[in-house]
Amino acid sequence: MIHNIYIDNYRSVRNISLNLARLNIIFGPNGCGKSNIYKAIHLLSGAASGQLSEMLGDEGGIQNTMWSGSNGSNQKARRICLSCETDDFEYELQVGFPDADPFNPTLFKLDPVVKEENIWTAGFKRRPSSQVLKRKNQVAFLSNIHGEKITHTDAIYENESVFGQLGEPHLYPEISHVRETIKNWRFYHEFDVSKKSAIRQPQIGFRSPILASDGSNLASAFQTIVEIGDIELLTEILLTAFPECSFFCKNDNARFMLFMNRKGLSRPLETSEMSDGTIRFLCLAVALLCPRPPNFIVLNEPENSLHPQMLPALAKLISEASRYSQIWLTSHSHELATLISKHVDFQLYELSISNGQTCINRM
Ligand SMILES: Nc1ncnc2c1ncn2[C@@H]1O[C@H](COP(=O)(O)OP(=O)(O)O)[C@@H](O)[C@H]1O
Ligand SMILES: [Mg+2]
Repeated sequence: MIHNIYIDNYRSVRNISLNLARLNIIFGPNGCGKSNIYKAIHLLSGAASGQLSEMLGDEGGIQNTMWSGSNGSNQKARRICLSCETDDFEYELQVGFPDADPFNPTLFKLDPVVKEENIWTAGFKRRPSSQVLKRKNQVAFLSNIHGEKITHTDAIYENESVFGQLGEPHLYPEISHVRETIKNWRFYHEFDVSKKSAIRQPQIGFRSPILASDGSNLASAFQTIVEIGDIELLTEILLTAFPECSFFCKNDNARFMLFMNRKGLSRPLETSEMSDGTIRFLCLAVALLCPRPPNFIVLNEPENSLHPQMLPALAKLISEASRYSQIWLTSHSHELATLISKHVDFQLYELSISNGQTCINRM
């Protein structure tokens, strides 16, 4: 379980420390930084997958992502710092701008650079003896499988995390464990349900115990729950959300597609004919009831474009999923939180923005 997430200088998040419970719900008005926190946690997980530069590029580059407030004018000292503390470890990543080098002119002046990266064994308050990774720029000191502290001799690519750059990961079990734990986190933001989106087209199917973050494998992930997951719970929740409807998957020459039977209609409707809200709810249901639950699920405003009638089913879904996964849920809907509270306890955070900085009030 994650006990704490710390974010420094990421967009509107100047500096916050979040103590996490099993289920965490985050509220706040538009523009207060809810999605920024979502993206910061996503970036931390992207680093573990070797996608730090790519993800920052998608976000508009480090110059847009770094907090643009006034008391951070010294560009050299400015860093995005992300860290998390779990039952087993503390991981910290510091990303900043490259140092100017007059002898080495380059157009890549705004590439993100990993300035520091650290891992400690949890519970020792970051004591030096508990440190298993200490990286500064392109030099890393790490503990190997024999408990020896060694210097990583191969140059480390400065724009990415050390994860994925260690030639023999089995020699560094603690570091591999951190990487695998963080890579296992799942993120669901918006599902593209536009007319030509992958979700609406038949897809080559294979057993899928996890829904892709864009929902593109919806049909095969649905069928995987039917065959090896909790189909009773999925059916119950879908019936609550869509009374008079039932759903099934068809395989046409290895292409999988989801269909909906509706009382009063003489033929099943294809995914391409379903409403946006129906497909979004199906994605959430399949994501949250997947047979291989991740250790952490991050959901950004899942109630968007859902009819309020679906909220009781969504609340049940989230509370059921929280039995198997820790959950971070950003939401606009107080009604959803009230409905969830009928099933499980959670930690509530209310966000606001003041002086260009996201502020957090634990309720
Ligand atoms: N680099 C940045 N520095 C400071 N504030 C930023 C930066 N990038 C975006 N913001 C601010 O973040 C806010 C948007 O936050 P967001 O998380 O999308 O809000 P919401 O709570 O609606 O999800 C806006 O107020 C925007 O001005
Ligand atoms: Mg948002």
